[in-house]
Amino acid sequence: MQTRVVERNHDFVSELGGEPVTYGDGLVDRIRALAPGGVDAALDFVGGEAVDVSRQVLKSPERVASIVDVAAVEKGGHHVWVRPDPAGLTALAELADQGKLSVHIDRALPLAEAAEALRISRDGHARGKLVLTVGER
Ligand SMILES: NC(=O)c1ccc[n+]([C@@H]2O[C@H](COP(=O)([O-])OP(=O)(O)OC[C@H]3O[C@@H](n4cnc5c(N)ncnc54)[C@H](OP(=O)(O)O)[C@@H]3O)[C@@H](O)[C@H]2O)c1
Repeated sequence: MQTRVVERNHDFVSELGGEPVTYGDGLVDRIRALAPGGVDAALDFVGGEAVDVSRQVLKSPERVASIVDVAAVEKGGHHVWVRPDPAGLTALAELADQGKLSVHIDRALPLAEAAEALRISRDGHARGKLVLTVGER
């Protein structure tokens, strides 16, 4: 059951050009099999154990950046907090207009269903963005 959940998005990751790896027990071994020489850099979107696993498979353990776990800093890595950046957002919008950036939408929900959107977000397995629509009937 657990395996089905964590592999649900593997085909999607492959379509994007990535090589999916099942997370959970044995993750370090699976990554080492995929990258025997070590990994150049790790971006962490989960936190906790993921930071420790990243440090074990990196060529240089400090090359892990987490957007979730401030403890990454104590472990010699980096923590990144995204701030509103109009210039950066404009650049991203231009790339989207040019068809060079696509944003996958998991689903759009009316604002009245914001609580459901929050539940889906907190579940931690959305595939892409959740959109709240305002003023549509
Ligand atoms: N620091 C900042 O500025 C900042 C900004 C935005 C978000 N965040 C935080 O960053 C986190 C991620 O946000 P998000 O919007 O990307 O969340 P999300 O849309 O819910 O995506 C979470 C992803 O993590 C995967 N995942 C879940 N458990 C995992 C595990 N144990 N190991 C590896 N992958 C796992 C899920 O894949 P599967 O469904 O295939 O399991 C899913 O693709 C949240 O905690 C959010 O609060 C921080």
